[in-house]
Amino acid sequence: MNITGNTIFIPGATSGIGLALALRLQARGNIIIVGGRRTERLERIAADHPGIDTVRIDTTEPESINHAAEQVIAAHPDLNVLVAMAGIMGVEDWTTPAGFLSHAEATVTTNLLGPIRLIAAFIDHLRAQPDATILTVSSGLAFAPLAATPSYNATKAGIHMLSESLRLQLADTTVKVLELEPPSVATDLMPGQKDSAVAMPLDDFVNEVVTLIETQPEATEIQVENVKFLRYGEARGDYDDVVATLNHLDPHGK
Ligand SMILES: NC(=O)c1ccc[n+]([C@@H]2O[C@H](COP(=O)([O-])OP(=O)(O)OC[C@H]3O[C@@H](n4cnc5c(N)ncnc54)[C@H](OP(=O)(O)O)[C@@H]3O)[C@@H](O)[C@H]2O)c1
Repeated sequence: MNITGNTIFIPGATSGIGLALALRLQARGNIIIVGGRRTERLERIAADHPGIDTVRIDTTEPESINHAAEQVIAAHPDLNVLVAMAGIMGVEDWTTPAGFLSHAEATVTTNLLGPIRLIAAFIDHLRAQPDATILTVSSGLAFAPLAATPSYNATKAGIHMLSESLRLQLADTTVKVLELEPPSVATDLMPGQKDSAVAMPLDDFVNEVVTLIETQPEATEIQVENVKFLRYGEARGDYDDVVATLNHLDPHGK
């Protein structure tokens, strides 16, 4: 993906990684459309950052996705990048159904079905662009499990394999598939995460991501240095140590 000259829709950019990336990419000469559910944040982002367009979208609702897609494509016919950023994460107790089932269903609907439905809503449009990118967002936890968050880990592993599969299937089209694999980053994704000692500062993370996109425009995965401990445990042969270390650390941390 080129670092500049794109028109980029980021559903899931009212806060955290999505918003920070949106602002950095706008500064690098891209047209940005921010999406999310919190309308007061959308209004503030539009007011504070002239040039950024905003769209209300709930990625758990197929009708909301389709409506937002129509709006975005009508207003920005040159749209060529979809970033499936929206996600949720929470602690679950799988020893009893009351401890996990409704949260697990919500996690699958947001983190896995959401990106699938978003891609369905945009694929025809993206295929008609001369150079397009679907940017998926997995996690270091796609590659090593945090015990406290089983559904989250599973959905992010699903996003990884979806990205790998789509890249093969779309190889002969104009659409590239790029997977962002964040480590623990200091955001409000989980209670306490912003202050976690093991979370990477948001600015540092986004700076490194932008540098990687700029210096490796043909890359298929965006891996900052901090994620490689989780990402490559199995390949290095120290997966058991990675899992042990991960789960000994702050349970909110990654
Ligand atoms: N922070 C980390 O350590 C970390 C690590 C690995 C991966 N990630 C991934 O990075 C992505 C962004 O997370 P973050 O850390 O930046 O957390 P965040 O600040 O909580 O951001 C989550 C974003 O997703 C949006 N969202 C959630 N549910 C949505 C829905 N149903 N419809 C539309 N938008 C929705 C939220 O907007 P509204 O509430 O306004 O809808 C918000 O903009 C997630 O996919 C997360 O899994 C984060």
